[in-house]
Amino acid sequence: MGLSESVPELSLEEILKMRGEHISESLSIGHGKPLHITRGEMQYLYSRSGVKYLDLVNNVCHVGHCNPHVVSAGQKQMAVLNTNTRYIYDGLTQYIQRLSYTLPEGLDYGFLVNSGSEANELAIRLARAYTNNHDIVVMEGAYHGHTGMLIDLSPYKFRGPGGKGIAEDWVHVAPVPDTFRDNSRDYLNEFEGIVRDAKPIAGFIVESMLSCAGQIPFPQGYLAKSFELIRNVGGLCIADEVQVGFGRLGSKMWAFEEHGVIPDIVVMGKPIGNGHPMAAVFTTKEIADSFKGMEFFSTFGGNPVSCAIGMAVMDVIEEKNLIENSKLMGELFIDGLTKLKNRYEIIGDIRGKGLFLGIELVKNRSSLEPAPKEAKLLVEGMLSKNILLSIDGPRKNVIKIKPPMVISKEDVDRTIKSLNEVFSDIE
Ligand SMILES: Cc1ncc(COP(=O)(O)O)c(C=O)c1O
Repeated sequence: MGLSESVPELSLEEILKMRGEHISESLSIGHGKPLHITRGEMQYLYSRSGVKYLDLVNNVCHVGHCNPHVVSAGQKQMAVLNTNTRYIYDGLTQYIQRLSYTLPEGLDYGFLVNSGSEANELAIRLARAYTNNHDIVVMEGAYHGHTGMLIDLSPYKFRGPGGKGIAEDWVHVAPVPDTFRDNSRDYLNEFEGIVRDAKPIAGFIVESMLSCAGQIPFPQGYLAKSFELIRNVGGLCIADEVQVGFGRLGSKMWAFEEHGVIPDIVVMGKPIGNGHPMAAVFTTKEIADSFKGMEFFSTFGGNPVSCAIGMAVMDVIEEKNLIENSKLMGELFIDGLTKLKNRYEIIGDIRGKGLFLGIELVKNRSSLEPAPKEAKLLVEGMLSKNILLSIDGPRKNVIKIKPPMVISKEDVDRTIKSLNEVFSDIE
């Protein structure tokens, strides 16, 4: 194919055949069937055959698929300069300063990298460098990234399909305070025991609301107390805001703010670049300084194009009041879902905040027996109505709602109406 020729259009069958020949099966296809998507626009995805899907899955395209302001910022910068942090350019410092202003005072020092995994690796390295300790505490069911160290720190993976179990004696797994399934346990007491029995702890890495573990918000007080326990033994607290940051929970920019805690290190990813590969780690000067001596360099991290895109994402969040929209749309969802819960026994729990919600399906509200088959049927039923949803949680029975933050009341009403029809079919 020459410079002047465009890429030939392939049929779905041809693409699938080529995938089989060149792409490992470990890369799964979502939604239970291959969707051949050729265009995205705000909260919608369009298939090659022209079907318009309402996207309730992609929390990466935070300010909307192909948001014109973000696209234009990237295009303009790409036409002028793209280099790396060893040069001086306005974008880097202005962008890091802008992000730091959204964080509690003291978390002023930012490192820009390319993915949530790279950012979490860096956060763990910082915690170890600062404390001179090695052990890490994680939550059961958590996913923090795909690198070697992060698979060891992701029970979602090491206990999941193909996983080899807990590999390392430096990893300590705390139980999820899942008060829907069991509110008789003293989860903080169990956490305290884990901290007591561990070797010297470098840090506790935790999502400010649990995602892969089943869309579970922390009970009030849990993060404050667990942070205190970690700090008492000299460890650092790392908030992984890769899924829940940038206002997704509505009303606040960062999900940890819901709990009145201030982490030592904050990790940002996914929505930060609206689909452009970037991520960030913020911390205090003292902790950042623990890298003294060894240069930090990530070839693409913080390049001028990424900074321009990151700035544009922030513009849209602020100018379009997307955090407020998340709050309002989340309330509408909860209201509609609560009505459905009163109608359908299969809905065991509705939880979450803003545009990060979970619907846990159970066969029976007393035994709480999970209903993963019905969850699958529900997602398939919604797909036939051109609405994209996904499933997660250790029992594969939690429907996740985490759309681009630009969805409207019409989208929410349509979703609730469609859910009503599909639940009625399932029951
Ligand atoms: C909470 C959390 N942390 C980290 C990551 C890793 O991010 P990335 O896929 O950008 O490496 C993910 C990805 O799904 C995530 O959900």
